[in-house]
Amino acid sequence: MMKLQHLFGIADLDKEQIEYLLNLGESLIDVSRRPIRKAPTLRGKTIINLFFENSTRTRTSFEIAGKRLSADVINISASTSATKKGESLLDTGQTLAAMRPHVLVVRHSISGTCQFLSEYLEGTSIVNAGDGSHEHPTQILTDLLTLRQAGGYENKVITIVGDIAHSRVGRSHLLAATLMGYRVRLVAPKTLLPAEVERYGCEISHDFDAAIPGSDVLYMLRVQTERLTDNCSFPSIREYHEAYGLNRKRLAAAGKGCLVMHPGPMNRGVEIASDVADSASARILEQVEHGVAIRMAVLTALCGDTGGEG
Ligand code: NCD
Repeated sequence: MMKLQHLFGIADLDKEQIEYLLNLGESLIDVSRRPIRKAPTLRGKTIINLFFENSTRTRTSFEIAGKRLSADVINISASTSATKKGESLLDTGQTLAAMRPHVLVVRHSISGTCQFLSEYLEGTSIVNAGDGSHEHPTQILTDLLTLRQAGGYENKVITIVGDIAHSRVGRSHLLAATLMGYRVRLVAPKTLLPAEVERYGCEISHDFDAAIPGSDVLYMLRVQTERLTDNCSFPSIREYHEAYGLNRKRLAAAGKGCLVMHPGPMNRGVEIASDVADSASARILEQVEHGVAIRMAVLTALCGDTGGEG
């Protein structure tokens, strides 16, 4: 059994660890399909979800994952926490750690928040549920499990389209691609590409139509308006949709076998047309289902019993 102390990012994992988590996640999909959705693996463990940014699927799937494995799960969102009363992140973290949870799942708008907290919170495992535009490791594991279930990711071309500059999902995929043997093609206007993107050694295009042939997956990203520091990154929603939105015509050009993925939340009519989101090519809801299984796997690797103290 593999034991992880923390999970900050794909950058901290090796291929073997990713494969281990995918195997474990795959074996746990079934728990959520049974009439009684409960296994005893994490009985007696306490997990706190500490979310300083909005979330539907990540927060809920961590909560469901913990509960399906019999852990006690507590949710705290920034809007109801004492940070609203001026408490610092570190004080909030230390306060929660003093209650001795096994795992703290953290989402924050500042990159590096999880590593920072881990330096002060001894004895608590920390999972990154998305930190600024840095990393979102459990989303990438979720995507890889979805691709594995759809036939595999090795040697596949995943074309990631949209706001790559501000996307922790895009960044984590770039790191995972080299490790796991798939190719990433980036498509975005120049204003939505990160600085020094060339160092990832992936194909880069500003022309969506030209990047479609040869793609095995069209992976659409939301424009992260909450992280845009200016409002001139693209001209208008209508023009953005025309240049970078996935519509029926583009899906047809991609060919029958090409899958459509999106980490959510989708902005229908912006990065993805509604009928494409609901089409047979879409794996978006499978991603959500696999998100629960992967988070079960990650929580188990962090605090599952290894035969010793818990
Ligand atoms: C992503 C995130 O928060 O980084 N969503 C998610 O966790 N499923 C992407 C996004 O917010 O657009």
